[in-house]
Amino acid sequence: MNQLFRRKNYSETDTSTSLLRVLGVWDIVFFGIAAIIGAGSFSSLGEAVFRGGPGVILLYLICGFACGFTALCYAEFASRIPTAGSAYTYAYASFGELIAWVIGWALIMEYSFGNIYVAFSWSDYFTSFLERLGMHIPDYLTCSYTEARKAFQNGSENKELLSAWNTAPLIGNLKFILDLPALVINGLITWLCYVGVKESKNFNNSLVILKLAVIVLVILIGFAYINTENWTPVNPETHVASFMPNGFAGVMSAVSGVFFAYIGFDALSVLSEETKDPQKTLPKGMIISLVLCTVIYIALTLVLTGMVDYRKFDGIGDPLSFIFEKSNANVAWMELVVSFVAIVAITTVLLVFQMGQPRIWYAMSRDGLMPEKFKTVHPKYKTPSFATVITGIAVGVPILFTDKTFILDFTSIGTIFAFVLVCAGVLMLPAKEKIKGRFHLPYINGKIIFPVIFIGGLIGFYIWQPEFFNNLIDWNDPKEGEFRASILVFILINLVLCIFTFIKNFSLIPLIGLSSCLYLLTGMSHENWFWFGLWFALGLIIYFCYGYRNSKLRQETVSK
Ligand code: ALA
Repeated sequence: MNQLFRRKNYSETDTSTSLLRVLGVWDIVFFGIAAIIGAGSFSSLGEAVFRGGPGVILLYLICGFACGFTALCYAEFASRIPTAGSAYTYAYASFGELIAWVIGWALIMEYSFGNIYVAFSWSDYFTSFLERLGMHIPDYLTCSYTEARKAFQNGSENKELLSAWNTAPLIGNLKFILDLPALVINGLITWLCYVGVKESKNFNNSLVILKLAVIVLVILIGFAYINTENWTPVNPETHVASFMPNGFAGVMSAVSGVFFAYIGFDALSVLSEETKDPQKTLPKGMIISLVLCTVIYIALTLVLTGMVDYRKFDGIGDPLSFIFEKSNANVAWMELVVSFVAIVAITTVLLVFQMGQPRIWYAMSRDGLMPEKFKTVHPKYKTPSFATVITGIAVGVPILFTDKTFILDFTSIGTIFAFVLVCAGVLMLPAKEKIKGRFHLPYINGKIIFPVIFIGGLIGFYIWQPEFFNNLIDWNDPKEGEFRASILVFILINLVLCIFTFIKNFSLIPLIGLSSCLYLLTGMSHENWFWFGLWFALGLIIYFCYGYRNSKLRQETVSK
C-alpha cells in the first residue's frame, strides 16, 4: 500500500536552472491572458448565455472566485516544490505516486481534450471569416459528424448543421462529414511545436494587446446597441420576467462553458524558472489575470445579452461576431474584424496547450510512469518530439468523432477535478512550516471559521429560500432533479470537511478553494459523471498495468 503513495523528493539542486529569469508581474499577466482568453470567451460564452440567460454573470463570479483560490494553491505548491512543473509534479512530491498519476491523467482532459474544443472554435471563426469574404467551404467540411447527426436527430434549427447532414456525400452508407479547418490547424500547431516555436515575449504581448483591443471594441460598440429589456427576458412557460429565465439550475447548467473560459491560469506555473522572484511574482500575476478576465467576461455577457435575446445563441459558435450580423446589430466591419482577431486569439491558446501536454508526458515518462519513448528529445529541434506527435494525434483523431458540447463538458469536469485535488493537496501540506524568502499562503486556522461560514451560510440560505431545501430530495423534475441531487452530495461532503477542519485545524484558504471547486462540480450532469468515471477507471487500469511496475521511484526503493 505504501508503494502507491511513495513520494518523489525534489532536492534543492532541482532549482538550479539554465533559464534566464526575465519575466515580471506584467509579463505573467500577459502570458496569463494569452492562455486564458480564447475559445471560452469567443465561443462557449454563446452556449453559456443560451442556457443561463443574463444570469450567467453570477456563474462568472463564482468561477472567478473558485479559480482565484485555486491559483493561490498553485502558487503555494510552486513555491514549495523547487522545480518547474505542473500539478503532476507537485502532487508527486506531496501526495505520492497514485494521486500524481490521477492528476496527470486528468490533465490530459485539460490540455489535449481542451484543445479539441479550441480547434472546433477556431474552425467556427475561420469559416465565418471566409464566408464574410465571400468564400464558402461546403458545410459538411466544417463540422463534426456527431454534431451534424445530433442536430438532425434532435430537430435543431441550426441551418449549417442540417445542411451538412443533408448535403454530405456518401461513402458506402456513411456520410462524409468532418471539420477540415479544425484538423488542419491542429496539424499546423503540432508542426510548430515539433520544430520548437520560440515563445517570444514581445510577439506574445502584441497578440494579447490585439486580443484585448478587439474585446474592448466589442464592449464599447456593443453598449450602444443594448436594449435593457433583454436583460430580464420573459420565461414563456411562467410568463415571469427574470434575470435568470431558466432559474439557477439553468445558470449552473452552463458551468462547463463558463469554467472553460478560465482554464489556462494554471499553465503559468510552468514559467516559474523564468520568472524573477517567482514566489511573489507568480501569485500576483495569476490573480491579476483572473481579476481582469472576470471583469471582461462580465462586461461581454452584459453586452451579448443586452444586444440580442439570449435564446438566439442556440448553437452559435462565433457569438462575438454573430451580435454584429445583419439580423442583429448589422455592423458589417465589426463582424469581419472580430472574426479575424478571434482566429489569432484562439491560436495562442492552441499553442500554449499543445506545448504543455508533451511536457507533462515528458515528466511522467522521466519518472517511469509513461513509456521511455515519451521522453525522446529531437536531436535538432530539442523538443519532446514523440510526445508532441502523440499530442497531435490525441487532439486530431477525436476531432473526427466527437462534438463540441461533449468535449467541453469532459474538459471542464476533468480540470475541475484536478483543481479539487490541488486544493486538497495544499491542505495536506504542513501549513505552518514556511520556507524563508518564499511565497506562502497566510495560515488562517479554519477550525471555527469554516464551519461557521458553511453552516451559517446554509442556515441563511434556508431562511431565504426554504422551498429549495424542502424540495432537495425531490429528484423527479428532470431539469432541477440532477442539480438538487448534486447539491445534496455537496452539502454532505462539506459537512464532513467541517468536522475534519475542526479536528485538524485545516488552513482556510485552500479549504475555500476546495469547497468552491466542489461547488462547480454540482453543475455537471450524470452523463458527464458517467464518462468521467470511465476515463478515471481506464487511467487506473493503465497505472496498475504499466506505471506501478515501471516507476523509477519504485525501482530505486526496491534496489535499496
Ligand atoms: N480558457 C481557454 C479558452 O477559453 C482554454 O480558450
